[in-house]
Amino acid sequence: MKVEIVTHRDGKEATVGFEYEKRFEAERPMVLDVLLQAQARTMPDLAFRYGCRARNCGVCTVDINGKPRIACRARAREGDTISPVATLPVLSDLVVRRDGIARQMRGRLSSGGQGNNLNVEAPEAYHDLTACIECYACLDKCPMHARNFDGGLPGDVQNAEDLPDASKGYRWGNPFSLLKLQRIRIDPLTTDAGRQAAVDNAIDLGLDACVGCAGCKCGVGIDLMGQVVGELLEAAKDRLPSSKT
Ligand code: SF4
Ligand code: SF4
Ligand code: FES
Repeated sequence: MKVEIVTHRDGKEATVGFEYEKRFEAERPMVLDVLLQAQARTMPDLAFRYGCRARNCGVCTVDINGKPRIACRARAREGDTISPVATLPVLSDLVVRRDGIARQMRGRLSSGGQGNNLNVEAPEAYHDLTACIECYACLDKCPMHARNFDGGLPGDVQNAEDLPDASKGYRWGNPFSLLKLQRIRIDPLTTDAGRQAAVDNAIDLGLDACVGCAGCKCGVGIDLMGQVVGELLEAAKDRLPSSKT
């Protein structure tokens, strides 16, 4: 099976062909298997990330034919092009800078102090949202996240020094950051002030971008539009002028 792997070194992009050798006739390898074999056989310095190999850690996400996929769970197909996720700046080959997203949420995730009753049951929706593995696949085509890059992708920014400083956390949010805030809102231990702060933070991160947006899709099947975006838009409807129309 032949695939193409897009590498990035010193700001230069190259596309390298690789032929995967099946280990047994009926094998249907995952994209991560292909990358591991490429590294073992012909591309020893190929840089990519993986951890659990079981769809738990989210760090192996790459673009396959331009769409974000979890490499340890996506089947490779003849002719696939494997490239770094386009929504985050590339560090090397398939490795992207993830810290701008995590740092963005610092100081925004307080529940406002916990209530006394730690035995209180969380609603089903709360457990649904804990399924997030932080793969960042949902950033694909998110206009809110794109605001960090003047409405485009990190790769569209000509000079590296014009990229936003990821070490400070990105200014504008994304489906993942909204999910974290919505999780706080429905956590039974969150105070009323904490719930309000979560909505305030969602608005500050650019919730208005969700009004009329085509929507986002989660890499592991969480209902982002129904359980996250829709809920936050409803909570903020009186504060988002364009949503009243
Ligand atoms: S609905 Fe909101 S979070 Fe989802 S892609 Fe659109 S702007 Fe981004
Ligand atoms: S919400 Fe889904 S797609 Fe987004 S980071 Fe979490 S698991 Fe990945
Ligand atoms: S290696 Fe952990 S999700 Fe793929």
